[in-house]
Amino acid sequence: MALVHVIANLKGGVGKTTITVQLAAVVADAMGGTPEDSPVLGVSVDPQASMFEWATRVGDALPFDFEQCDSDPALLARMKEHAPYEHIFVDTPGSLNAPEVLATVLRQADDIIIPILPEVMSFSPAEQTIRFIEQITGAPWRILINNWMPGRHETDLEQTRAYLTARGWPSFHVAIRNYRLHARASAERMTVVNYSNNRVAREARSDFLRLGLEVLGRNGVGEPRHSHLATLEES
Ligand SMILES: Nc1ncnc2c1ncn2[C@@H]1O[C@H](COP(=O)(O)OP(=O)(O)O)[C@@H](O)[C@H]1O
Ligand SMILES: [Mg+2]
Repeated sequence: MALVHVIANLKGGVGKTTITVQLAAVVADAMGGTPEDSPVLGVSVDPQASMFEWATRVGDALPFDFEQCDSDPALLARMKEHAPYEHIFVDTPGSLNAPEVLATVLRQADDIIIPILPEVMSFSPAEQTIRFIEQITGAPWRILINNWMPGRHETDLEQTRAYLTARGWPSFHVAIRNYRLHARASAERMTVVNYSNNRVAREARSDFLRLGLEVLGRNGVGEPRHSHLATLEES
């Protein structure tokens, strides 16, 4: 049965869609996925459908399969059994307009990734998100700091890490840095696996490779079975 990874935060603009697409791409690519035969499925339950637009633009080069499904909780409830996939990454809306849809995917989650920005304004939506998640499921969740600007956000990163530690909130070791490449990727019909091979692109990609390793290596959810990710990270 597939492992379901849900990317959630009740606040918009924190990077849910960016992380879902890039993480699904990097994991699919590392597992040898091709557009014809991929062990990875991306699902969007966000009616705003930005993942759908991105996936459509990338088209044949998308290394994972994709489904937009924002209004059929009964179908979503069977996603895990129905799919011949090893990993399913689910992008969710930044609102509670359809709580039943979000609750349905959370009930199937093996783990939950909560992206936040390294700023104080992110803390209270994260707390609301955690409260909502914990009403629905006991699945493990972790905070992922996204859109960090090294140099400019150094203090913000430290303050955010300190806040997470003080709250006892588990978080990823990697913080995803801000790269214009990521913001441009959808318009450029790319995911992180199609970036060119220059230094900046390699650095931008390396954050998602590290994230992929952390997600697949999560205790209780399974060790990384495909060491190709580690190989990629070193290159
Ligand atoms: N690591 C990043 N580097 C650069 N831009 C980013 C990064 N993460 C997100 N963005 C940009 O921030 C905006 C919000 O991201 P998005 O993934 O759409 O958030 P959400 O799905 O939570 O609303 C988008 O314009 C996206 O391109
Ligand atoms: Mg989104």
